[in-house]
Amino acid sequence: MKNQFLIDPDITFLNHGSFGACPRAVFEEYQNWQRRLEFQPGKFMTHDVYQYLKVARDDLGQFLGCSGDDLLFFPNPTTAVSNVINSLQLTEADEVLMTEHEYGALVRSWKASAERVGLTIRQQTVSIPVTTREKFVEEFWSGVNKKTRVIFISHITSSTALIFPVEEICTLAHESGIITIIDGAHVPGHIPLDISSLNCDFYTGACHKWLCAPKGSSFLYVKATHHEWMRPLVVSWGEEGDDPGPTQFLKNFQWQGTRDMSAFLTIPAALRFREENHWSDVQANCQKLVEKTADHLKKLLKTTPLFHGFQWLGQMVSHPLPGSAPSDLKLILWNDHKIEVPVFEWQDQQFIRVSIQGYNTWADVEKLIYALETLLP
Ligand SMILES: Cc1ncc(COP(=O)(O)O)c(C=O)c1O
Repeated sequence: MKNQFLIDPDITFLNHGSFGACPRAVFEEYQNWQRRLEFQPGKFMTHDVYQYLKVARDDLGQFLGCSGDDLLFFPNPTTAVSNVINSLQLTEADEVLMTEHEYGALVRSWKASAERVGLTIRQQTVSIPVTTREKFVEEFWSGVNKKTRVIFISHITSSTALIFPVEEICTLAHESGIITIIDGAHVPGHIPLDISSLNCDFYTGACHKWLCAPKGSSFLYVKATHHEWMRPLVVSWGEEGDDPGPTQFLKNFQWQGTRDMSAFLTIPAALRFREENHWSDVQANCQKLVEKTADHLKKLLKTTPLFHGFQWLGQMVSHPLPGSAPSDLKLILWNDHKIEVPVFEWQDQQFIRVSIQGYNTWADVEKLIYALETLLP
């Protein structure tokens, strides 16, 4: 399987979660789109691209369980969420509720907005290790008060690599008239997702992570009832442009000035790659490896895992490192062992996060375990 990807065969790559990795066949399709653009740039960018974007939106919509016309393409989730923040008319009377596990760049985006308009950001503590969905929801929901206008929560967290019970939270929020923005950066192609039954207001996901599309292919789902009041951060041509729509919403957002849309157009090829390679079987195998990895890390590191039960995990596991771990562990693993794996700080503690994708085998994890055994006192 590793042959089907472009990753350096000499490195042990356990970092799919950060930026993904694109299969050779999908990357070739990406370059084909770029060649088509360069072959006749004017016609491609002012006319043809819109029909290709529709195919990409529709195929992705089918995969995610929503209409393609409720999807906007963005290069990354940060840009997608920034467009939502820009559109919400929040004031100092409002609160945004999130957990302490949200992605740092997006917490900063919210805080910048809070500074501008004076709204309150509440980061609710949820007990670690997480145990049951019920307990999680109860603890998180106790952060809701009459000022809560928005819930912003990860479906799979970045630092802690946990699957959060967003289904229950969206249901409660919907009943209470609270807007839900789900950060599913890690979700598409990683765990099953049916956006319509989730009943959220906004959902962002990155296709260049677990869907294995090229970098810069992310989406924002916007519930149809919100299309009308959404305002793009980049205004551009909107209704005066070439975009045939069909809706004003698409006309407002799809053209953001000249940019290479090839990554978006390659999403159907990434979906095909998954089907042709029986990806659900590949994933089931990856999940088994993740569970085995979690067990080994627990034994080796002797720190308390972040979760009780593997239902909290997908294809990643994050584990606390002991205090004795060298502060430059990531660089040592990189330089001396040719292992790429993220080591980072969360809540004043060092963590290591292992990702398992189809190209990984148990031998990759064994290399990491062996290296850690030699590096940790
Ligand atoms: C949970 C989560 N949200 C959002 C993002 C933002 O991604 P980007 O920096 O590409 O916008 C990431 C990136 O890894 C993430 O892990």
